[in-house]
Amino acid sequence: MASNKKLLVLPGDGIGPEVMREVRRIIDWFDRRRAVRFELDEALVGGAAIDALGTPIAPETVAKAKAADAVLFGSVGGPKWDKLGFDMRPEIAILTLRKELGLFANLRPAQVLDPLADASTLKPEVVRGLDLMIVRESTGGIYFGEPRGIDTLPDGTKRGYNTEVYTTAEIERVARVAFEFARKRQNRVCSVEKANVMESGLLWRQTVTDLHARAFADVDLSHMYADNCAMQLVRNPRQFDVIVTTNLFGDLLSDLASMLTGSLGMLPSATIGAVGPDGKRHALYEPIHGSAPDIAGKGIANPMAQILSFAMLLRYSFGMEDEAKLVERACTNVLGSGLRTADIMQPGLARVSTQVMGDAVVRELDKIGG
Ligand code: IPM
Ligand code: MG
Repeated sequence: MASNKKLLVLPGDGIGPEVMREVRRIIDWFDRRRAVRFELDEALVGGAAIDALGTPIAPETVAKAKAADAVLFGSVGGPKWDKLGFDMRPEIAILTLRKELGLFANLRPAQVLDPLADASTLKPEVVRGLDLMIVRESTGGIYFGEPRGIDTLPDGTKRGYNTEVYTTAEIERVARVAFEFARKRQNRVCSVEKANVMESGLLWRQTVTDLHARAFADVDLSHMYADNCAMQLVRNPRQFDVIVTTNLFGDLLSDLASMLTGSLGMLPSATIGAVGPDGKRHALYEPIHGSAPDIAGKGIANPMAQILSFAMLLRYSFGMEDEAKLVERACTNVLGSGLRTADIMQPGLARVSTQVMGDAVVRELDKIGG
């Protein structure tokens, strides 16, 4: 049997625990099949951790995440915790993990699976076959830049400010990830910033251009301003293969790109760090959708994005390409068979619960993975 792989599971808030429950069944399936055994640990994050422990993420949880081979994250946040102070928000949990584990490259694929080509709000002929990947920088930029704060001015009014800041090293390491991914895909990278108005954007463009000439001249590189990129993503999304961009622009553009697929409940993501001296690379996997408090507890959430995040984990953290493909194929087949959770419901198909969707994926694994 393969050696144990240490997974830290962080279900979080809202629909997080519900969809994570279905992933646990997939993990059990692999365990039963003895294909691979995972050593699981679980901890509270976000609002759940605030309620139980008085903090969005306990230091022990960060330590566990550092010790794990991979982290599987659900989602955090909800109206219950909206009024808390800035450093006590549930979102601090994910930001802390990204920073503490050095998870600087956030990989956000937007892929239109054939059975769901009609789910998009765009015309099917515009999105059919779409397969793009946003590589979003995720430990720098305006999210973490100093100085930041809200000051009180002499007249009693206030001044709020944040700083967009990028160093050559920060830009290079994330661009490297994008170029390397492109080589395994359609070999095209579009680098996105606002070099027309921001110095940090200008440095971004120069650094990506230099790195490209130095180490990745075989990859097709283009540059785009972020506002134009938003427009192009809606106009003709299939022109893109890999997009590499800053933390804030990546946050916006990845929400936009995910909705091109019409099914937020389908999209996984991975956030990876550098390969350490021991050959290990920290990585966290999470669905793109949030905690969806409006439907939490109703058993109707789509578990696919969380399940597909686990597939990404198999692929990127453990090099288990066959197993990853197996999980992805099981999900596609289940959709192909006409089962739909509410978020991707189409006329004439069968609307099912979170659990029934999970059942179906496990049954499909039995069928195609046997
Ligand atoms: C995301 C989310 C987070 C972000 C929030 C929850 C802090 O929107 O992962 O895209 O802004 O990065
Ligand atoms: Mg976001």
